[in-house]
Amino acid sequence: MLHLQNINGTVLRLFLFLTLCTDFRLSAAVDTMAATDTIKDGDTLVSADGTYELGFFSPGNSLNRYLGIWYKKISNGTVVWVANRETPLNNSAGVLKFIADRGILALFNGSNSIIWSSNSSRTVQNPVAQLLNSGNFVIRDATDTNPDNYLWQSFDYFGNTFLPGMKFGRNMITGFERYMTSWKSNDDPSEGDYVYKFDHTGFPELFLTNGLSVLFRSGPWNGLRFSGTPELKQNSIYTFEFVFNQEEFFYRYKLVNDSVVSRMLLTQNGLVERLTWIDRTAGWNIYLTAQMDNCDTYALCGAYGSCDINNSPMCTCLKGFVPKYPNQYDMADWSNGCVRKSPLACGKGDGFKKYSGVKLPDSRYSWFNTSMSLKECNVECLKNCNCTAYANLDVRQGGSGCLLWFNNLMDIRQLTENGQDLYIRMAASELDKSSGILKNPARTILGILVLMGALLLGVLLALYVCRKRRQKREVISLGKMGSGMGRDGSESHKDDLELPLLDFDDIAEATGYFSISNKLGEGGFGPVYKGSFSDGQEIAVKRLSKDSRQGLDEFKNEVICIAKLQHRNLVKLIGCCIQEDEKLLVYEYMPNKSLNHFIFDKNRSKMLDWPMRFHIINGIARGLLYLHQDSRLRIIHRDLKASNILLDNDMNPKISDFGMARSFGGNETGANTRRVVGTYGYMAPEYAIDGLFSIKSDVFSYGVLVLEIVSGKRNRGFHHPDHDLNLLGHAWKLYKENKLLELIDPATWVSCMIPQVARSILVGLLCVQQSPADRPSMASVVVMLSSESELPEPKPPGFFTERKPVEIEFSSSNKEICSGNDFTLTMLEPR
Ligand SMILES: *[C@@H]1O[C@H](CO)[C@@H](O)[C@H](O)[C@H]1NC(C)=O
Ligand SMILES: *[C@@H]1O[C@H](CO)[C@@H](O)[C@H](O)[C@H]1NC(C)=O
Ligand SMILES: *[C@@H]1O[C@H](CO)[C@@H](O)[C@H](O)[C@H]1NC(C)=O
Ligand SMILES: *[C@@H]1O[C@H](CO)[C@@H](O)[C@H](O)[C@H]1NC(C)=O
Ligand SMILES: *[C@@H]1O[C@H](CO)[C@@H](O)[C@H](O)[C@H]1NC(C)=O
Ligand SMILES: *[C@@H]1O[C@H](CO)[C@@H](O)[C@H](O)[C@H]1NC(C)=O
Ligand SMILES: *[C@@H]1O[C@H](CO)[C@@H](O)[C@H](O)[C@H]1NC(C)=O
Repeated sequence: MLHLQNINGTVLRLFLFLTLCTDFRLSAAVDTMAATDTIKDGDTLVSADGTYELGFFSPGNSLNRYLGIWYKKISNGTVVWVANRETPLNNSAGVLKFIADRGILALFNGSNSIIWSSNSSRTVQNPVAQLLNSGNFVIRDATDTNPDNYLWQSFDYFGNTFLPGMKFGRNMITGFERYMTSWKSNDDPSEGDYVYKFDHTGFPELFLTNGLSVLFRSGPWNGLRFSGTPELKQNSIYTFEFVFNQEEFFYRYKLVNDSVVSRMLLTQNGLVERLTWIDRTAGWNIYLTAQMDNCDTYALCGAYGSCDINNSPMCTCLKGFVPKYPNQYDMADWSNGCVRKSPLACGKGDGFKKYSGVKLPDSRYSWFNTSMSLKECNVECLKNCNCTAYANLDVRQGGSGCLLWFNNLMDIRQLTENGQDLYIRMAASELDKSSGILKNPARTILGILVLMGALLLGVLLALYVCRKRRQKREVISLGKMGSGMGRDGSESHKDDLELPLLDFDDIAEATGYFSISNKLGEGGFGPVYKGSFSDGQEIAVKRLSKDSRQGLDEFKNEVICIAKLQHRNLVKLIGCCIQEDEKLLVYEYMPNKSLNHFIFDKNRSKMLDWPMRFHIINGIARGLLYLHQDSRLRIIHRDLKASNILLDNDMNPKISDFGMARSFGGNETGANTRRVVGTYGYMAPEYAIDGLFSIKSDVFSYGVLVLEIVSGKRNRGFHHPDHDLNLLGHAWKLYKENKLLELIDPATWVSCMIPQVARSILVGLLCVQQSPADRPSMASVVVMLSSESELPEPKPPGFFTERKPVEIEFSSSNKEICSGNDFTLTMLEPR
């Protein structure tokens, strides 16, 4: 019995305990909201340690309601984050809840309209939102075993406050930026006048701007601090770091001990302040302000001026420079800055003068390398006449890395502590004779004489060549396109063609009478020969096979198409020749042959470094844009592939082979054909299967090309030990697994710029999407490649598993034409 009683007692106590617990839970705040929970005005979430609170509030004297996060334990009323900054509620009817099944939190107003929402690229069944101890409000999948895998987090969307743990910077791969914006006023949290943000045109540096005007900059990071923030040093309140790798760069700080609270604030007056909470006075104390004094006003002293707050006046020209307008400068109008006393001689005796204890100049137009030594940096700068200064990138351990400037040096100031060394390029006469960099004057004079001689020779040579050319031109353009072109209703084009008709004998002579040794290859409709006219002009000649009916159509097509096109990324037709049975097309000669000679070749691929490849990717895009949109005819190329991209002396890409191109008038952008022509591996699915071609099927081929250029692998015949996907499928797989960079051709590792490569791959994936409607136009592609805006998420590519539907269908095709390594296929029959 005793025993039983005991149990009863325990159960009773347990029951009481549970009831108490439940009561406690109900009355105390929670930090989590589940998929079905809502937060109404008056409800709040509180972080587990009680530091932060999330709910509705009204700033200052405003009556508007905002959803936000504020300090709870200390300083109730100091708001650190606001959701609906730009869309206030005018009453207390706001409700925060999940949009069913989407993992998106939305703020609804009284009439049930969404006025703000979070964002997510994934959808989840069971989302939860939680206010973390850090003040980060996060959404995640409740079933996810990794609690740090956020669908969305408030730390990604800065307002005027930069909290410990936030990453202030940029994701180089997606282009996503986190930066500070001021409030309009104490009563209005909407975006005010001031923005504090990294500029990464050169080495990343923080800029405070108001509209277009720069007010302040931090200086580039020097390993210890930003060059212009000497007061940023080791302290007992927070630690800080700047992380810069190929994926992202950001500035971040952490509190040493959570008992001392600190935050960074961009005030509505444009001051960047660090504040710390003082328990004793129960108030915020300004620990430091980024703008220390007047000398931190951007470019106060103008180009090559230096600001020293301990001097009067503050601005002086750097040594070796004089005011551009002395009268203005004397009257404290320093904005026009200073100019050199002695102009630079570019290489011939220029040297560098060392300035110590300075804030490094505006680095927006800089170049950097993290591994170079100061000596190498000096050499690098001397090599380029436009280089105006250099400095160590990292001042730790005696200094390392190299930062070069190429513009007029702006916004230099003298610092009383933690200044840096800057080496500014100077003419020989401005350097101390002892500095040793000065070259032997006799040698300099000799050099100048030699240079002048060479110049004179060059000019004479150029004049001579010009004259020869003009003589030749008169011979070539004797006739315009004549009768041979007329049949098949193409007469209407006759008048427009401004294509020189060349003489067969001239061409025969130029190509060594079509000698085998001058044969470059076999094109779509006949052999191609190299030749050179007597004036030295090099040409490539396409000779139509005499018995090819197919070829005649293509010949006409090509003449009509390309004669009207003029673009530096299209191969240029110099003339043509129709004489009895002979039909010839004469092009400018491309000494570097075609793209496939480089990217798919183990040795030659090393000659195409990343900048060149990016140049080629851009060039093809511009050429194609011209065809699709800007030329007088709208043209769909239909056979874009690596072997049809020719490279000139400077590796500029030129689209060639218009034998299969189709032109359109007006607003037509596509058509259906029974004759599918193109090349395996480059054909868009809707074209290969249904014969539907449009500018978007060219975009598909372009996407394939981009992925081939980046990876150095052919789409067709791609092999991977782990799967049967083709190159498109492989790229897609890597994209899904977040391993995009594995796609990069090892030959470009040294030279590649990760953000550019990643952007190119994404653009490639966008172009090869299954549905033509999803693919961007070439106009968007050109913009995407050159901007840094965020890109949309690609959907799966077309033909990404090599199920070979094309090959099966096409095995019955009746006509195949080989061109070089690639395989051009033509099908005339209806399917
Ligand atoms: C501060 O506390 C009061 C009540 O204690 C609350 O109503 C208010 O919303 C809190 N927060 C702010 C930002 O004023
Ligand atoms: C809030 O706005 C709604 C719609 O504009 C309006 O009908 C309502 O009267 C406003 N409420 C207050 C308190 O101003
Ligand atoms: C709710 O928002 C919608 C859209 O912004 C607006 O038209 C409507 O007037 C708002 N209702 C209230 C009660 O504020
Ligand atoms: C949500 O994402 C889309 C596309 O990713 C973007 O256009 C939009 O601006 C984002 N919205 C917010 C509030 O960040
Ligand atoms: C943080 O500061 C408090 C109060 O000064 C002190 O008691 C505590 O030991 C400190 N914590 C750490 C980890 O230093
Ligand atoms: C940086 O300098 C090192 C040493 O001179 C060189 O090997 C490397 O290629 C350079 N990196 C870049 C990106 O220029
Ligand atoms: C120097 O700058 C000029 C003008 O900006 C530019 O045309 C030239 O190519 C540059 N030279 C070098 C070597 O970068």
